[in-house]
Amino acid sequence: MKIIKAPDKLFKDLKKFKISGKSIGFVPTMGALHAGHLSLIAQARKENKIVVVSIFVNPKQFGPQEDLKVYPRPLKKDLLLCKKEKVDYVFLPGANALYAEGFSTYVDVEGLSAVLCGKSRPGHFRGVATIVTKLFNLVQPDVAYFGQKDAQQASIIKKMTKDLNFPVKIKIMPTLREKDGLAMSSRNAYLGKQERKDALVLSRALNLAKVLIRGGAKDTVRIISRMKQLISKNKNAKLDYIAIVDSENLKPLKIISGNYLIALALNIKKVRLIDNFQGRFSTQSKSVPNMGTL
Ligand code: PAF
Repeated sequence: MKIIKAPDKLFKDLKKFKISGKSIGFVPTMGALHAGHLSLIAQARKENKIVVVSIFVNPKQFGPQEDLKVYPRPLKKDLLLCKKEKVDYVFLPGANALYAEGFSTYVDVEGLSAVLCGKSRPGHFRGVATIVTKLFNLVQPDVAYFGQKDAQQASIIKKMTKDLNFPVKIKIMPTLREKDGLAMSSRNAYLGKQERKDALVLSRALNLAKVLIRGGAKDTVRIISRMKQLISKNKNAKLDYIAIVDSENLKPLKIISGNYLIALALNIKKVRLIDNFQGRFSTQSKSVPNMGTL
């Protein structure tokens, strides 16, 4: 496994694989790798000759009041995990290597970046789209792997890839969960014992929605209101939003239909957590809708 810090060195090293037609699978991360990341890496390993993982806590996607400084950086452990997963290249740039003084060019995926998490995290998705663009340019992957856990990020990256004609296939892999239903996230490391219990309110609210829809509920306002009721019973949970939207264009749905996404974000004390599930509902079908898994 090669560890490369300099962007131009990475580009040069990977060029020979491009020329010889060896497929490159790419997993961009901010480190603090958990089983969710490892499932992306394993998929990349299965499908490509060369696997590249980047570990970079991207300052441009953190707001001034957010957790950039304290974001977990267990580098030694991350590198061991990458080695175990038979990663070929780890790209480990310093912030100055990617954002030289005077850096002023950004990628903004309009519309999709302004809704859901974008409302309370202004600039976040501009930071994500910008760094992913830079990484795509440096790695030139054939396939890039992202998690469904960050559903809005996934939609934005798919749209950006299409709009900017990146010759990259985007694969979105299912959310991995702890046994009790909590979606895996590097930020779960911030949760104390009680907060970890409180965090289950996200998957419970989504499960409630799932049960309601299975029972025939279609009115999204009513579904959201039942989810809110459940969340309000937990005094440590401060809701940011719950939305039921079209899973591609993220526009709100009045009635459950087509490919829909139920997404929510809330704070347990100071820790911001998100979760979602994607379902498909066909008005033609008389059978129970495919709800995806939680
Ligand atoms: O999902 C993440 O970890 C980050 O947003 C990403 C895609 C690596 C960009 O910094």
